[in-house]
Amino acid sequence: MSDFHWYPGHMAKAKRAILEDLKLIDVVIELTDARAPLSSRNPDINNMANGKGRIMVMSKSDLAEPSGNDSWTQYFKDEGLDAACVDMKSGSGMKRIRSLLMDAAEKKHEKDKRKGIRMQRPVRALVCGIPNVGKSTFINSMAKRNVAKTGNRPGVTKGKQWITVSKGIELLDSPGLLWPKIEDEKAALNLALLGSMNDEAINIERLVGELISIMAERYPGILSGMYGVSAGDDATAVLSKMAGSLNMLQKGGEPDLDRARQFLLDSFRNGNYGRMTLELP
Ligand code: G4P
Repeated sequence: MSDFHWYPGHMAKAKRAILEDLKLIDVVIELTDARAPLSSRNPDINNMANGKGRIMVMSKSDLAEPSGNDSWTQYFKDEGLDAACVDMKSGSGMKRIRSLLMDAAEKKHEKDKRKGIRMQRPVRALVCGIPNVGKSTFINSMAKRNVAKTGNRPGVTKGKQWITVSKGIELLDSPGLLWPKIEDEKAALNLALLGSMNDEAINIERLVGELISIMAERYPGILSGMYGVSAGDDATAVLSKMAGSLNMLQKGGEPDLDRARQFLLDSFRNGNYGRMTLELP
């Protein structure tokens, strides 16, 4: 989980660092969380990576709903961005990423050829994204060993190392760090639910209220099956029933809503309720 507080100075530093890295590379591999792909991306990369080859990788697809994964893959394709979902716990989807990367490199070679440039070096790629989207895990998975240097501090001095991931393609070993773009409360809540934002910055009642309303609307079977919640129960009624069925009671026998709230949040984050997507295109 990210423990990084974003202040304007940090964002400016991160932006400078990523712009420096972008000078060295041909292809940008943008990572986002499949459970909330818009909330967990910073679209400023579109401007910063202008002219580069691009691919979009949605990580943690094992935690997101399969039909949501398909909708988002299509959404990004419609936006002109080749996209794919990966589950880095099992490695599922990584083959497809290699082939997208080869395609992006091929396109780059073709473009250079038309301009009369003969590429003297391998195509170079940079992984980038906001904290906690799986950048280091992705680099290690591509490299098939632990190489990724942590990139969760902007402006950390680091020697650049290139990892050969396929014939003619190299990946920078340290990811480009983007700052979260929080455009509305919904995005902030999604990021907090994913554990990509400091909890103390957010009101837990509001956070769990949002989770309950998403579950009630899209995954009603979970709350009714596990805790006997009925359709139409408000957040307090849901938490009360949960606390009752889990025997989370205060001294006087009253349901302990705070414990139920924390339990619901932790269970969601640990994937105990199965695959859930927080936002759809
Ligand atoms: P970052 O560099 O972008 O900050 O992300 P990082 O690779 O550190 O990954 C953040 C967390 O997400 C890690 O868990 C990592 O294991 C997990 N993760 C990455 N990709 C996937 C995926 O496709 N599926 C699932 N289920 N999890 C993924 P952690 O709890 O912080 O660390 P650890 O317990 O795995 O060591």
